[in-house]
Amino acid sequence: MSAPEVIRTEQLAENAAALIAEYGKRAIAERGIFRLALAGGSTPGAAYRLLAEDPQGLDLAKVQFTFGDERCVPPDHADSNYRMARETLLDKATVPEGNVFRIRGEIDPEAAAVECEAQLKAVAARFGEKVYRHDLLLLGMGEDGHTASLFPGYPALDVKDRWLVPTLGPKPPPQRVTFTYLLIDAARCVCFLTNIKGKAEVLERVLAGDRAFPAARVNPTDGTVIWMIGESR
Ligand code: 6PG
Repeated sequence: MSAPEVIRTEQLAENAAALIAEYGKRAIAERGIFRLALAGGSTPGAAYRLLAEDPQGLDLAKVQFTFGDERCVPPDHADSNYRMARETLLDKATVPEGNVFRIRGEIDPEAAAVECEAQLKAVAARFGEKVYRHDLLLLGMGEDGHTASLFPGYPALDVKDRWLVPTLGPKPPPQRVTFTYLLIDAARCVCFLTNIKGKAEVLERVLAGDRAFPAARVNPTDGTVIWMIGESR
C-alpha cells in the first residue's frame, strides 16, 4: 500500500464534506453510482450535516449508503449509527429507500450480518466484483486504535472469509456488527475522520504502522488511505 495521505485541519467537517462530494461526483461520472460507507461515532455527524445542507453538486439520489458498523440496538435508539446518519443526512436528502443498506441492529446480530452481506453480494455480482468495492469508505478511530467495531484482541480482526460479522467490544453498547478487513480493504479509498484530542499518541503509532492497533491494519488491496485529522483549538 502506498503511504497514506495525512490531512491535518481545523475544519474537519468542512474538509470531510468537500472530500465526500468530490469523490462522489467522480464515482457517479465514472460508474453512475457512488458507493459510500458511513462511519459511526460522534465525529462524522457534523460533516454529514454540512453535506445535507450543501451537497456541492453531489447527487445524493445516486449514492448507495452502507455502514462500517452498527450497534445492536433499534434504529431509533440514541446509540444507533443509522439514526445518527438519518438525522444528519439521510432524512434531509432525497435518498431512495433501496439505496440504504442498513445493518439491522434490532435483529439477531448474526442474522443482521448475513442479511447485509447478501445485499452487498447482489450488488457486487452486478459489478462483476469478487468483493463489494466501496468508492469511499469512511472510518473513525477510537482511543484504543479500534476502527469500525474492530477492537484490539477480538476475533473479528482475523476473519478472512466474511464481509460483516457480529462482534462484542469494550465500547458500549458491547454487541455490534462490523465490516471485516476483507470488505474494508476492497475499497477504492478509505478515509479516516478523527479528532486528535485524546488520541495523539495512538494516532502517531497508527500512522507509524503499529499493527497492535486495528486502524493500522487497514490496507486496501487496490486503493488509497487518507487520514483527515481534526486539530480544533
Ligand atoms: C462506532 C464507530 C467507531 C467510532 C470510533 C470513534 O460505532 O462507535 O464506528 O469505530 O468511529 O469509536 O468514535 P468518535 O468519533 O466518537 O471518537
